[in-house]
Amino acid sequence: TTGGSEAEKRAAGESAAETVEDGMVVGLGTGSTAAHAIRAIGRRVDSGLDVRGIPTSFQSRELAKEAAIPLTTLDEADEVHLAIDGADQFSGPHLVKGGGAAHAREKIVDAAADRLLVVADPSKFADELDHPIPVEVLPDARTTVAADVRALGGTPTLRTAERKDGPVVTDNGNLVLDCDFGAIPSPGVLASELAELPGAVEHGLFVGMADEVHVGSDDGVEVRRF
Ligand code: A5P
Repeated sequence: TTGGSEAEKRAAGESAAETVEDGMVVGLGTGSTAAHAIRAIGRRVDSGLDVRGIPTSFQSRELAKEAAIPLTTLDEADEVHLAIDGADQFSGPHLVKGGGAAHAREKIVDAAADRLLVVADPSKFADELDHPIPVEVLPDARTTVAADVRALGGTPTLRTAERKDGPVVTDNGNLVLDCDFGAIPSPGVLASELAELPGAVEHGLFVGMADEVHVGSDDGVEVRRF
């Protein structure tokens, strides 16, 4: 959760939820903006919309259950028609995700979807990505991946939580290194380099993955298509 207001996030989430159609399987993203989309889809289910959701995290599963959205899995669904997910930063169709440490499952579901709709407030926009890249690592690999990240020119920081002594543990039982590379002129190159590191489970660069970004503001929603 960063920057934008709750009203901006709600506008974006509700706009994306409007695009869901009867019969769809929909990936349900993580974070405070995607939560608005999940609640809005829940209201439409209540009025008769026939949809099944695939959660991307513990949080989105809980929200979907609360909203009474029928759930399915990647194993069971024949097709994922749409995914609606938040982002920590976007530049065109490129995203940085993982502020909630959910990017590994988010990437699986978002990549499986025919279309990815990103929901964001204006504070998430950047001309050039420069947000630290979350890298989920196997616990045994945190020191070696940190060294690899330094060799690539990044500064890794083990993620800790305010209300826990010790590191953040992901839904998959792994740790997160937030890796600051400064400005990222070639996201595709860095994404490939990070993907190659032994013990790095998944990184938060989503290169060219967004089909639409719904940017909420007090004046309405701007939809950018790629
Ligand atoms: C979760 O790990 C992230 O990828 C979220 O999607 C991202 O942090 C967006 O969250 P907000 O909508 O709360 O900013």
